Amino acid sequence: MSPLRIILVGLGARAQFWMRVVRDNPDCTIVGLVDPSETARSRALEQWPLATAAADVSLLGQIEADAVLLATPPGGREAQMEAACAAGLPILAEKPLADGVELAARYVEMAETAGVPLMVGLNFRFLPVTQKVLKLFDEQVGLPEFGRFTYERWRDGWKPNFNKYPLTMDQPMLWEQSIHHFDLMRYVYKSEPVLLFGKTFNPSWSMYRDDANVSALITFASGVTVNYQGLWQSNWQAPGFQWRNECARGVVVQNDQFGDLNYALHSDATLTSVPLPPYEQWINDAVAVLAAFVAALRGTAPLLCSGRDHLSSLRMVQACILSSQLGQAINPADLDLGAKREIGPFNQNALQQRTSL
Ligand SMILES: NC(=O)c1ccc[n+]([C@@H]2O[C@H](COP(=O)([O-])OP(=O)(O)OC[C@H]3O[C@@H](n4cnc5c(N)ncnc54)[C@H](O)[C@@H]3O)[C@@H](O)[C@H]2O)c1
Repeated sequence: MSPLRIILVGLGARAQFWMRVVRDNPDCTIVGLVDPSETARSRALEQWPLATAAADVSLLGQIEADAVLLATPPGGREAQMEAACAAGLPILAEKPLADGVELAARYVEMAETAGVPLMVGLNFRFLPVTQKVLKLFDEQVGLPEFGRFTYERWRDGWKPNFNKYPLTMDQPMLWEQSIHHFDLMRYVYKSEPVLLFGKTFNPSWSMYRDDANVSALITFASGVTVNYQGLWQSNWQAPGFQWRNECARGVVVQNDQFGDLNYALHSDATLTSVPLPPYEQWINDAVAVLAAFVAALRGTAPLLCSGRDHLSSLRMVQACILSSQLGQAINPADLDLGAKREIGPFNQNALQQRTSL
């Protein structure tokens, strides 16, 4: 079978990982490179000299290809989505699909109408540690009933190898980072959120224009309640992470977002460390995302992380923003204006105040 011919759109920080991951997958190759920045194109061409490079997405209708990988900032993907759909090219898009639920929903409908598979690269679902957490719930400690998720980081947005758009975008922590965390919660709890009370804020030392820190209390339909704190502007260089889940027979404690997994049954005096397979950060998870995308296109597996599924995680982000603005709890499902469901007077009121939703 000939390799899947990919056009990589957006050649910044994240694309550097994708170029390596595609190269290591004999089932894929890069045939097109798109970025308005000439510097970014030249750098990418050094790695893929046989690819065709272009400054805009008109390339998508001009060369033979099998799929598009979007590694662009989430704001302003309209032309990219339209070009991919017009060319009938399946899309693997970096998270978040868009920087708003309404726009993301439009993209999902656009892809569905065009019959184009749309997958969102939610790499954290594919981490060995995430898969093992699911196994622990099933085989050791039982179902989770409540949890605490803390992600504490002083993210230096000026670091040369970091993307710069989060410095000026709205709600950078939520759209760029918490989207991973909220998606992970839906994934491991196997349940949808029904109530979210959120507070976003920006400390005095923040280098970000808009809120870089988030607190939220989230309730899922299954009854699981999570205390969430996500910080891009903590005030210490050393990062902190803990996701602790209280389950029917004990606890699961993850002390690093990429590993350090432990559990204890109720009467255990100490935590038991859980062995995990060797793992290279940002690589193995992207390898798994790409493999899942290829399998779906080859028809050997269902499409995972679909754009439509992703809307439910994006609604959590939007609900958090709205909740913080209104000082009231929000059911993320109420943001789905497309759904023919009854919105209670309280939520209707909230939505009227934010017609952009
Ligand atoms: N899944 C993950 O773990 C992970 C990690 C980092 C970044 N990301 C995501 O990857 C995406 C890109 O982030 P990044 O860090 O590479 O950002 P970046 O700013 O470093 O790179 C983005 C690139 O896109 C280019 N670009 C902008 N508009 C374009 C357009 N219309 N057409 C083509 N190219 C365009 C820019 O010139 C830039 O080179 C974001 O959605 C981000 O959230 C995901």
